[in-house]
Amino acid sequence: MFIGIDLGTSSIKMILIDHNQRILATTNSSLTVQSPKDGFSEQNPQEWINSTMECFEALRLKKPKEFIQTISIGISGHMHGATLIDKSGNVIRPCILWNDTRSHQECEEFEKQNFDVRSISGNITMPGFTAPKINWIKNNEIDNFKKIFKVLLPKDYLRFVLTGEFFSEMSDASGTLWLDIKKRKWSNQLLSCSHLEEKHMPALVEGNEETGILKKNLKDRFNFINDIKVVGGAGDNAAAATGMGIINENQSFISLGTSGVFFTPTENPLSNIGDAVHSFCHCLPNKWHLMSVMLSASNCLDWICAVTNTSIADTLNNVENLYSDTNSIKNSSYFLPYLSGERTPYNDPHIRGSLHSIKTTTNATDLQYAVIEGISFGILDGVNSILKVNNDFDTILMVGGGSKSSFWIELLASLLNRKLSVCDQSEYGAALGVSRLAMYVDKNIPDQNIIKGIKIIRQFVPQEEKIELLMKRYNIWKDIYHSNKKIASNLLT
Ligand code: XUL
Repeated sequence: MFIGIDLGTSSIKMILIDHNQRILATTNSSLTVQSPKDGFSEQNPQEWINSTMECFEALRLKKPKEFIQTISIGISGHMHGATLIDKSGNVIRPCILWNDTRSHQECEEFEKQNFDVRSISGNITMPGFTAPKINWIKNNEIDNFKKIFKVLLPKDYLRFVLTGEFFSEMSDASGTLWLDIKKRKWSNQLLSCSHLEEKHMPALVEGNEETGILKKNLKDRFNFINDIKVVGGAGDNAAAATGMGIINENQSFISLGTSGVFFTPTENPLSNIGDAVHSFCHCLPNKWHLMSVMLSASNCLDWICAVTNTSIADTLNNVENLYSDTNSIKNSSYFLPYLSGERTPYNDPHIRGSLHSIKTTTNATDLQYAVIEGISFGILDGVNSILKVNNDFDTILMVGGGSKSSFWIELLASLLNRKLSVCDQSEYGAALGVSRLAMYVDKNIPDQNIIKGIKIIRQFVPQEEKIELLMKRYNIWKDIYHSNKKIASNLLT
């Protein structure tokens, strides 16, 4: 038996699988996010611990006999968060999350060096990444900075709680900006840009390597039989990819979750810095990936549903009806989905969301359509950014909450002018991915049997009659961003 833990932004998800990767039980426990100021996004790591313990207990109650025979655990988590630990192992302040944009000035400071920062990190320095967050702490909370003993990513802090060990792995470590992504090693040069040294970092492994054993008190608390090994695991996107068998070139996925992601593996470290594409290590040895990230995808949908007081299901129904009528599409408003700034392709922490072309006839459904279309345009921006360096993918799988809407995938297929596939996956994809990584430490299982493809259950093809209209609206939408950009920073409070 193997356990996969996925520390998501809004909940911890946990899965128990057997040697044949049959899912025996799943469970989840919700988490809260605090936003003390516009652009700030934080979480209290104690919530991660409480939720993890709740999930262990829930899995144990669901499958007691199997649960206690667990052999190993893999952990995935939301990326980039800065969890600061003092020398007694205590958390110094709330974790600053991936969608926090407070450190935009520190990004410039981080890159102002007498060497080429980007060529080592493979990436533009963006406020969501871990490194500039530490520069912000140094500039704004010097007492906290002085207390730093280790900087841990969220899932690596959870690992520390479970095992007492300080480890990270390549996929998540790439998102700190302190990793030399080609060499798969911490870079002393990059660490020095945040006034840190390698001693502040956890040791590095690949995602399928062992990092420690579950602590004795936890083994006893949950009646586990074995000394349970905890493997490196992966950042949430690399983990989700692994859960779908996406570890090779030609494969890719689009995730319509809180963030909107397009992800494709590469055999070498490629990058497109100009369009703020993320160039990271994958969670298995000698593999890398490219990724576009839009910061607000399905949370724009949540936002418009709350504002118009409509459920997500009703919103999708209304918008589907609107989409069937070409004239209504033509008359719809436009929405920039940048509720907390944007990464790919603009790296723009100042831009915010906005609605455009609102008329006396505009109703709630027009606005809802504009939001869904605006998120989709953002996804196209991401795919286009990656196409500039890698045109080598034929299958695109759709995942994440938004992928449950057939209408939305149909719209995206027409917009991208590509076939999109929906697979047999659940919200536990990242947890499945890391439970697969956990299987590598069981020497009875041949490595080559572990990562399998996923069953495609439906394919969506572009609708000829929509392509031209959507492209026309996409080009107008791009212009709206460029004119809005000019005033964006004046609008920030
Ligand atoms: C990736 C990113 C997000 C988070 C949260 O760079 O910031 O996808 O990992 O899911």
